[in-house]
Amino acid sequence: MNTLLESRNLTKNFQIGKDNEITVLRGVDLHIAGGEFVSVMGPSGSGKSTLLYNICGMDRMTSGEVTFNGRELAGLSEPELARLRLTEMGFIFQQIHLLRNLSIFDNIVLSGYLANGRSRSEVNAAARELMQRTGIAELADNAITQASGGQLQRVGICRALINNPEIIFGDEPTGALNSRASAEIMDLLSEVNRSGTTVMLVTHDVRVAARTNRVLLMMDGEVVSEKALGAMTDPGEITAREEELSAWLLEMGV
Ligand SMILES: Nc1ncnc2c1ncn2[C@@H]1O[C@H](COP(=O)(O)OP(=O)(O)O)[C@@H](O)[C@H]1O
Ligand SMILES: [Mg+2]
Repeated sequence: MNTLLESRNLTKNFQIGKDNEITVLRGVDLHIAGGEFVSVMGPSGSGKSTLLYNICGMDRMTSGEVTFNGRELAGLSEPELARLRLTEMGFIFQQIHLLRNLSIFDNIVLSGYLANGRSRSEVNAAARELMQRTGIAELADNAITQASGGQLQRVGICRALINNPEIIFGDEPTGALNSRASAEIMDLLSEVNRSGTTVMLVTHDVRVAARTNRVLLMMDGEVVSEKALGAMTDPGEITAREEELSAWLLEMGV
């Protein structure tokens, strides 16, 4: 399969105070093919979020190389990176950041208008289709205060998909949800992946990672191991996959 995202010897240091530096990423090599469904696990503080922010160009790496869809991120200006994130990447976070004075529908179409690649009526039609697909069509005119946490995360998925990105990045996307809403969001993300979008999730939740096809393990700023689970073909497989992952994590000392 074609390579979508690659990092070579990616490092990230943070300046702490005046003359103190900490190394958070210690030479990460990643290889994500188009169409993959990957998760990154690891203890809190191991560098998962930092990795995500550096491979999507939200933060500037200290050294190393990241190539996304054929472009070297270090060579792009801030506006070029912003454009890349807007048009080729989608993001979902634990807490969705929505504009409070806009309706749910308007929150979803906004990135579509900003990308400026289609007419507003085309963007509106795409948003309606996404809302239908994620089961929130009836919420279009609602304020964001009139939706549950699980519904808001569906709004986040619609917003992330509005420009037809190559990849969806998620940082603990189900971290604030109960187990039922979490499973529903994972069903949706699986469906998004099956329809061709690459999905990469950071999570500390075995139940989330067990639904992805490949799990990377980060410890202390390095990817120390990975586990290939393959695509889940039957929902009945989830328990066995969770057990397999838990055993692996135990073996790895997590
Ligand atoms: N902006 C920052 N400035 C200084 N230290 C940071 C910053 N962001 C993250 N860190 C540190 O980097 C380490 C990894 O953080 P993070 O990537 O958030 O881990 P994870 O997502 O795996 O919990 C932590 O020790 C954290 O305190
Ligand atoms: Mg994190």
